[in-house]
Amino acid sequence: MTDHYHLETLAIHAGQQPDPATGAIMTPIYQTSTYVQDGVGRHKGYEYSRTGNPTRTALEACLAALEGGQHGLAFASGMAAIDTLFRLVAAGEHVLAGNDVYGGTFRLLDKVFKDYGVEYSFVEMTDLEAVKKGLKPNTRLVWMETPTNPRLKVFDIRAISGLAHSNSPRTLVGVDNTFATPYLQRPLELGADIVVHSTTKYLGGHSDVVGGAAIVNDATVHERLRFLQNAVGAVPGPMDCWLVLRGLKTLPVRMDRHAENALAVAQFLADHPAVKEVIYPGLPDHPQHELAKRQMRNPGGMISFLLHGGLEAANRVAARTKLFALAESLGGIESLIELPAAMTHASTAGSPLAVDADLIRISVGLENQEDLIEDLGRALWES
Ligand SMILES: Cc1ncc(COP(=O)(O)O)c(C=O)c1O
Repeated sequence: MTDHYHLETLAIHAGQQPDPATGAIMTPIYQTSTYVQDGVGRHKGYEYSRTGNPTRTALEACLAALEGGQHGLAFASGMAAIDTLFRLVAAGEHVLAGNDVYGGTFRLLDKVFKDYGVEYSFVEMTDLEAVKKGLKPNTRLVWMETPTNPRLKVFDIRAISGLAHSNSPRTLVGVDNTFATPYLQRPLELGADIVVHSTTKYLGGHSDVVGGAAIVNDATVHERLRFLQNAVGAVPGPMDCWLVLRGLKTLPVRMDRHAENALAVAQFLADHPAVKEVIYPGLPDHPQHELAKRQMRNPGGMISFLLHGGLEAANRVAARTKLFALAESLGGIESLIELPAAMTHASTAGSPLAVDADLIRISVGLENQEDLIEDLGRALWES
């Protein structure tokens, strides 16, 4: 796909051509495990579907184009992508991570990679001096989400990448771009080395698939990740690749509407007497509001908030909304509500990353804005 197209065009076309056999305009779901060879080692580019599958190839090319990267890799889940990326870190090397991450990512470092001799520490990445101090000679990976899950902190990708790269030629910067998506923010252009996604979220966009992705520029890093993808084998099936490809086509329009709805909901919450604090990068009182304006096309669809009534009130609101379904995950067309401390981030309990028990996180969907506000208003009134 030629480079000059805009993201909206790439989301629909990149990596995809009409099927040469039939003219089908949509990429077929190549539901096959293997490929017949003309002779030993003489094949059409595919040998076995863990190694490669044409539907996955189309998705990987599309993801790479959207992130402005050279290479895309698709995985069976966001965690599979993060796991594969963390395997670039050898025993005795160090991961410096932002101090607010998805609970599963914390668990992977704390309960899996630690046992393999990988060192890690967490740092407040809104503080660049703290990042500088946190870097060590053996730091192999600087890892951040931005905006973070669930506190929605915004980290300066360009500044942090600069610090990481001046630390050591071996220090790589990885960004989990799940909350922002490439429509809002393109970390590779800001200096990061690797972008990771849970495609389960906004990229798939319809709460009907679990998947992950990594996008890189560097050929050596790509080669190693590609090797690991095949060697470890956490690959998505063709149907799941197709679902993400289909979701990507509407990513730009969905993200604009998610943000439009989220801003209206955030403003409503900020004015509500039962609400103690609203965290949304699109509100002027968010501590990194200016950075978010610089770094992101819009502030996205995720909001966290706290109530004066504490945990009891939070539990009541989460149970009483009707349109905001009480469920884990985010980034789908429908609105969701959850309490991270008890749900998505339960694995951080007792750690320095533990989330306030009464923090409520909502993923603002594409329903009518007034209906969403009415739903939250009713639940807050009853709380
Ligand atoms: C920011 C972030 N990264 C990664 C993941 C893990 O993705 P998956 O659930 O697809 O494995 C999640 C899941 O919620 C997430 O929110």
